[in-house]
Amino acid sequence: MACCISLLTGSLHAQTRTIFKFTRDWKFMLGDDSNARAVSYNDAGWRSLNLPHDWSIELPFDSTSPTGNGGGALRGGTGWYRKTFTLPVTAIGKKIFIDFDGVYMNSEVFLNGHSLGVRPNGYISFQYDLTPYLNYGSVKNVIAVRVDNSRQPNSRWYSGSGIYRNVWLVTTGKIYIGHWGTHLTTPEVNDQQAEVNLDVHIVNPAAAYTRIIVRTSLYDAAAKLQQTVISSVVLKYETTVHQEFSLLSPHLWSTADPYQYKAVTQVLVNGKITDDYTTPFGIRYFNFDADKGFSLNGKPLKIIGVCDHHDLGCLGTALNYRALQRQLEILKGMGINGIRTSHNPPAPELLDLCDKMGFIVMDEAFDMWKIEKTRYDYHLYWDQWHRRDLQDQILRDRNHPCVFIWSIGNEINEQWNKNDSSGTVIARELAGIVRSLDTTRPITSAFNDPYPDNPLIRSGVFDLIGYNYDHKDYGTFHERFPGKKFIATETVSALQTRGHYDMPSDSIRRWPQRWDKPLENGNPDLTCSAYENCSAPWGSTHEETIKELLRYPYASGMFVWTGFDYIGEPTPYPFPARSSYFGIVDLAGFPKDAYYLYQSLFTDRDVLHVFPHWNWKTGDSVDVWAYYNHADEVELFLNGKSLGSKSRQGDDLHVWWRVRFEPGTLRAVSRKNGKTVMESIIKTAGRPAKIVLSADRHNISADGTDLSFITATITDKDGNVVPDADNLIDFAVSGPGFIAGTDNGRQTDLTSFQSRDRRAFNGLALAVIQSKDRAGKITVTARSGELQTATLLLTSK
Ligand code: GAL
Repeated sequence: MACCISLLTGSLHAQTRTIFKFTRDWKFMLGDDSNARAVSYNDAGWRSLNLPHDWSIELPFDSTSPTGNGGGALRGGTGWYRKTFTLPVTAIGKKIFIDFDGVYMNSEVFLNGHSLGVRPNGYISFQYDLTPYLNYGSVKNVIAVRVDNSRQPNSRWYSGSGIYRNVWLVTTGKIYIGHWGTHLTTPEVNDQQAEVNLDVHIVNPAAAYTRIIVRTSLYDAAAKLQQTVISSVVLKYETTVHQEFSLLSPHLWSTADPYQYKAVTQVLVNGKITDDYTTPFGIRYFNFDADKGFSLNGKPLKIIGVCDHHDLGCLGTALNYRALQRQLEILKGMGINGIRTSHNPPAPELLDLCDKMGFIVMDEAFDMWKIEKTRYDYHLYWDQWHRRDLQDQILRDRNHPCVFIWSIGNEINEQWNKNDSSGTVIARELAGIVRSLDTTRPITSAFNDPYPDNPLIRSGVFDLIGYNYDHKDYGTFHERFPGKKFIATETVSALQTRGHYDMPSDSIRRWPQRWDKPLENGNPDLTCSAYENCSAPWGSTHEETIKELLRYPYASGMFVWTGFDYIGEPTPYPFPARSSYFGIVDLAGFPKDAYYLYQSLFTDRDVLHVFPHWNWKTGDSVDVWAYYNHADEVELFLNGKSLGSKSRQGDDLHVWWRVRFEPGTLRAVSRKNGKTVMESIIKTAGRPAKIVLSADRHNISADGTDLSFITATITDKDGNVVPDADNLIDFAVSGPGFIAGTDNGRQTDLTSFQSRDRRAFNGLALAVIQSKDRAGKITVTARSGELQTATLLLTSK
């Protein structure tokens, strides 16, 4: 099967660089066969699919999986991908590269039977030059990729398996700009003017002296030309051309206004363009101050960030732009302004989105160095690969305005070897690598032993001292580290199941009771309470940490563990728990109550969030909480009777009432100066009667990748959400779309994420609908036994 000729022909005729998404029509086999590298291999029996692809998410949950429930109880294994294609003869003379954004893990790539290289690290992006082995005209080419994720465990969380990020085919002229070949900095920025420096790395494989022109133009966000600089150089092999610009009245990048410019560089030989390269960039300045904390463009800003792993819930780790964008939109909605890419280089799309949406990224490299955390993890490859992997991460990411901090490791075990210099030596080496490639951002590492005798900290290479947890000691930071700068690299680790509430709400559970012991006396249904009353013992509730963070101006910010629940690491429970409880948002993307705590503190919108639901047994003692802002009091009424007004005292972040339950209507009113700001009503729900469907977007693109996230809510006949409804819903789709996954946010649900049948959990379920390449109307139907069926119409254009 020869593919993509038509698509490629068009682009290859162009003079300059083409970047072609190389993700369609691959063949896949789960299993191993060393013959599969050969061109002549018969892959007709293999499955056809499009990348990105995560094979583990398709497998059943399995209590015997060697990945453990830490790895989501989903298996790894070995798999092969193949793609057959031809190239037009007009492509002869071009340079042709293949770019992999990430393959988990241990990939080896072959072109026409030749091995192009191996890459153990499952998160790093890499490129191979295909040109030496390509065929042109009617002779076909075969790319074969072996992916080996069989040695388990190799991760503390769900990694996914396969070519789970995008793949690109890049063509350039003979003299071209190298891989990640531009480096843009803004050494001087003020309101009047910004200096912009650009280094362009140019390669001339011909080894003959050639005169080239390098012409770079800067454009603003409206594509208006700002300035052009032209350089002329004579080049043999390779060279770096330095260009300087100065922009008047620069429009600065910030989290509130993430304004981007772009630099478009062209390389010309004899007046003809041989390559071009676009470098998007932002202009901003920032500072971490030992006393005053973080400031962006001269204004103080607390970083209220989250840590996240890379899975996209029921879609697994297969990168989907819309799914990632939705996660970030949900986080923005609660006032989050920072992301920590725990604990590895992210998908390039994450950084593009953070550039565009205004997030401050802490870009992290490693979860371990030479000392393992799991038996088959990256420590096995450390000696051979850490330099290359770290360099590549910095080269790839250093032009992004959203990247503010480099982290060279999370909870690195070398920190515990107090009498041994191995950690100090590695810390120095890694920091040296980073600084050789970027001097504009601080370096940190996330320490769970943030004390001065930590040998990594003693190395003296860190610009920011990163605390993981230890929130009660923020106040003594300068006693421990006089004159140093503080960042809370990881915080909280609260444990919550959406919609589940354990009374009394004012008694806090630390689950498990000790970090190294299994949980005793947990809930039989493996839930954790969504009040602020459950956390890991090394962490805290959200409120406990937020209070400390806000208390100290030098506390520049924090990254909460975690924004979203993720697959794997279901602390504090064993199997069948298979996904985490740490998220402020559940795995399906449904906010837990803590979401509104953040929203009330860190956004401008009016918030009055009252919980829990109002379906209890008569006589139960129920704690009613409210998060609110922009008001001086909240009054609560049960069936019309006032239960009193409350206002937050001291550093309280919520108000609450202990209420004797009777069915009916709970109503809360927030008031400022006696005037109502908001009202919230919760009614006791009757039996499940209907399904109500709602979509995050009704119009999607008919591009085969776009998504609509459909929420199914189970309500009673009057439309009240039934808070414990667990009806089995069958989702069906007609028209040019399909179900890419379903979920409900329940950490113990062992139904495959690919199933079209999904039980609701605490009233809610999710179906993710993906477009096909065809435009048209997509009808989504949700049925469940006696319940009134719901349908919803989407348009795919
Ligand atoms: C931290 C660790 C994270 C995650 C978290 C769970 O110590 O850095 O990766 O395991 O604990 O609370």
